[in-house]
Amino acid sequence: MKKEFILITGGCGYIGSHVVLNLLNLNYSIVILDNFSNSSKKIIERIRKISNKSFIIVEGDISNRDILKSIFLKYSIKGVIHLAGLKAVGESEIYPMRYYKNNVNGSLILFEEMEKANVKNLVFSSSASVYGKKKNFIFTEDDSVMPQNVYGRTKLIIENILKDIQKSSKDWSVVILRYFNPIGAHQSGLIGENPFNLPSNLLPSVTQVAIGKREQLFVFGNNYSTSDGTCKRDYIHVEDLAKAHLYALNYLFKNDISVSIFNIGSGKAYSVLEVIRIFEEVSGIHIPFKIIDRRPGDISECLADPSKAEMILGWKAKLNLRKMCEDAWRWQRQNPNGI
Ligand code: UD1
Repeated sequence: MKKEFILITGGCGYIGSHVVLNLLNLNYSIVILDNFSNSSKKIIERIRKISNKSFIIVEGDISNRDILKSIFLKYSIKGVIHLAGLKAVGESEIYPMRYYKNNVNGSLILFEEMEKANVKNLVFSSSASVYGKKKNFIFTEDDSVMPQNVYGRTKLIIENILKDIQKSSKDWSVVILRYFNPIGAHQSGLIGENPFNLPSNLLPSVTQVAIGKREQLFVFGNNYSTSDGTCKRDYIHVEDLAKAHLYALNYLFKNDISVSIFNIGSGKAYSVLEVIRIFEEVSGIHIPFKIIDRRPGDISECLADPSKAEMILGWKAKLNLRKMCEDAWRWQRQNPNGI
């Protein structure tokens, strides 16, 4: 029998590299497709070093039909984990066309080529940003969706495309994972979040202050109706998040499913000031910060109800915020200039 592979688009990115490592650990055979627009080729060596395993790497874009065709022709692909995409919320508002083209158009081409190649098992990386606002801030998968930014809208459009494809072609099986706020890094300090531009997310900004690359952190508003006035988020360790993909794949292959959606969060929310305090405790470094105006588009709180993932997939986040800060700090220390 021909060896079966899992295709991972965006497999050299922040989340992708952790997913790849977890799959390699379980002896999956892997083809990575990555265009390296927001990841370094050095990550390939690091994945090899940590896993001591080999895998196939193809450089290219998900919108390149020739490359997709050749992958599906050359390898027997059992399922696809689709992570490739642009992911900066602020940037998506400035360059909407770039986001719709890359995320929506790119995904559509990937799905068309999957259909032609008769590869119809898919895990798609979506985001909590599809939800929008809600009074009690705890989101379940059945809640109404109303993304507040272009990035979130691209994710929602792709989710809807997948639902429509599955409705018309019943042999498609799709698991959609809605990530909350992934942070942290691999325990080894060899892989982690490696933004090419100035990071806009909270923890990478905190670690940059700690390493001396920024003078201070700007906290976006302290007049929200939360315990300390700063926004609260459901942070999830990237390693826990990566493991959710293994559970999703298992579920996909063992069950006769159509489209299943799961929240992937820890179920605990922390404020910006709490994150700073815990990071300071873990690192022993003082983080100077200044409260500035609210960032447009931020919601005051966002918390996952992850019980569906626990009940159906058997997955649950295990690592706490201290561990997330510890690992993010080790990654930043070992790679002060990124890789
Ligand atoms: C957004 C997306 C989320 C995505 C994440 C990572 C939404 C609703 N959420 O999360 O789906 O997974 O980006 O790309 O679209 N903050 C500061 N100072 C900073 C940076 C951040 O105070 O320098 C605060 C923000 O106001 C926010 C919290 O820290 O309250 C987290 O922000 P961030 O890490 O950017 O993630 P989100 O915007 O929550």
